[in-house]
Amino acid sequence: MSVPKAVRQRAGELHRELHEHNYRYYVLDAPVITDAEYDRLLRELQDLEVRYPELIAPDSPTQRVGAAPSKAFGEVRHEQRMLSLDNAFSDAELGDFDRRVCERLEVDAVDYAAEPKLDGLAVSLLYEHGVLTRAATRGDGVTGEDITANVRTIASIPLRLAGRGIPAILEVRGEVYISHRGFERLNLQAVKDGQKPFVNPRNAAAGSLRQLDPKVTAARPLEFYCYGVGRTEGGALPERHSEILVRLRDWHLRVYDGIERVHGLQGCQAYYRKLEAARATLPFEIDGVVFKVDRLDQQDSLGFVARAPRWAIARKFPAQEEQTRVTGIDVQVGRTGALTPVARLEPVFVGGVTVTNATLHNEDEVHRKDVRVGDTVIIRRAGDVIPEVVRVLREQRARGAPVFHLPKHCPECGSAVERVEGEAVARCSGGLFCPAQRREAIKHFASRRAMDIDGLGDKLVDQLVEQELIHDVSDLYRLEVEQIAGLERMAQKSATNLVKALEKSKATTLERFIYALGIREVGEATARILAEAFGDLDALMGADVEDLQVVHEVGPVVAQHISAFFREPHNREVIQRLRGAGLHWQAVEPGAARPLAGRTFVITGTLSMPRSELKERLQAAGARVAGSVSKQTDYVVAGAEPGSKYDKALALGIEILDEAACLALLK
Ligand code: IVH
Repeated sequence: MSVPKAVRQRAGELHRELHEHNYRYYVLDAPVITDAEYDRLLRELQDLEVRYPELIAPDSPTQRVGAAPSKAFGEVRHEQRMLSLDNAFSDAELGDFDRRVCERLEVDAVDYAAEPKLDGLAVSLLYEHGVLTRAATRGDGVTGEDITANVRTIASIPLRLAGRGIPAILEVRGEVYISHRGFERLNLQAVKDGQKPFVNPRNAAAGSLRQLDPKVTAARPLEFYCYGVGRTEGGALPERHSEILVRLRDWHLRVYDGIERVHGLQGCQAYYRKLEAARATLPFEIDGVVFKVDRLDQQDSLGFVARAPRWAIARKFPAQEEQTRVTGIDVQVGRTGALTPVARLEPVFVGGVTVTNATLHNEDEVHRKDVRVGDTVIIRRAGDVIPEVVRVLREQRARGAPVFHLPKHCPECGSAVERVEGEAVARCSGGLFCPAQRREAIKHFASRRAMDIDGLGDKLVDQLVEQELIHDVSDLYRLEVEQIAGLERMAQKSATNLVKALEKSKATTLERFIYALGIREVGEATARILAEAFGDLDALMGADVEDLQVVHEVGPVVAQHISAFFREPHNREVIQRLRGAGLHWQAVEPGAARPLAGRTFVITGTLSMPRSELKERLQAAGARVAGSVSKQTDYVVAGAEPGSKYDKALALGIEILDEAACLALLK
């Protein structure tokens, strides 16, 4: 049965429209129709193709869902070799590269195209007369695998190019990758399905691209950016790499926006610094910057050696993951007696700093990751995040390495260690008898958001406790200049300043004072609520568990902690002494200063401060901070790379604030 002309025409229209909307959505990130409208057009085309299978072309927008699985990948020979890149690991090495380029070209400086080095997989896309006909992996550079069926499922890769002057044969090269967000979602799903999560976005991308069943690939959040061309025939391209990229973009290929043409070594260095600073906020993983001599005639005269061109270099960022050895597992005791195992490491340079410790959080975590003394481990430090053990290289473990257990007695004071059923944290039961808990309690008392005692840092507290100059926080106010001046790294002047700061801290607020006491589970927000509810300290100290629970935000557990704290005679004595030393505050008017009372907030994405901090501040202003978005949500605060909560807020029409807008509300 031949296809009626009108049907053929309509199918052609639908092709064009769908390609255009696809391009606007996935490449430009600027859709002009709704998802529903897109689906309607796609369904219309699918219906036509069901009725007239002759209409199904390899570049049909319906072909993205994934073809039938194959047994193995075919081979593809790259007519133009897919080269790799030499690396520069320092400014000096980048300088050497630039010097070699200039010397060979006999010029003072050259223009470079500066691009992010995406951490994914190189692919080659062959377009014949504008239609994607073949896609291949890099393989060994000479022969790769035919992954056409899989690549067709990647929405940001056009099945057909658009525009004028497209060469008859155009081989485009670029990187297939998975964004941070895509990776997170993929792993959430994997865990839900009882599968092993992927180690990193690169592995996830590689695994997804090399699936024999394209339907599996279609379900993976793969994306694509192109960074160059291979073989071309039947058409001329510009004479600069940066201009070729602009041309590729005109033809609807996805090219990263932030690619720049820079001049000379200085231009390269500036671009590198800029991207290094932006790295944490980019939606995808990059492991460095690529600099390419921009003029093609200069590229040609430089040529290449072995497997890499002489005209390009990858300036790598310091790695965020490195391998090292665990030399021991120590146990630290915190303010509330919580025992935290900490891995001591052979020093390793990772994420730009030398790391010697990594937190292991708690005993369950040590067992889950199965970390043992002597193990070779992968350490990760990204941005300002605390270094952590990603995983153990089990193959390298020495025979008989013992499993780690928390001690039964506190390593600092010898008191029994207790662990409440169902809780992850084990605690020293020594209370303020334990020097570690005392030390930490004093540090907390002095901290900025508590009594804000200028100049009383952690090291100084350690010394004061160690030399038995203080036993509890009330002793701080009896310290004399001479006692302090004798300590390490202290002198007359700094000691005088500290005594002044202590004096100044005596005028405080009730909520700060309650927070400074360090009662378990009483953070700033709860301290503020308590101050408002009870108005003065004596009323709070006299409250029993029932009185406390009358306060809306105070649950039974917190009420128990508060009541137990104030029943403890030692604590009452310390408070008495502090008041005797002159600590004072104004009584609080109940119900004042809670501008966000009754409002519900949800936080998503990366902020400039820890999420917990913003949460506390919102709660302190009376807001409720919820974990998920619902119709009851009033505001969603979105940082960089917001997650699915952001999408949900959009869908529900909830007001979205950026960090600055949220802070403005708090003011
Ligand atoms: S150009 C002749 N540009 O890095 C130059 N490669 O280490 C060949 N890569 O195999 C590659 N971003 O997978 C180039 N902007 C970029 C890149 C990039 C990531 C990858 C690519 C290549 C590998 C070489």
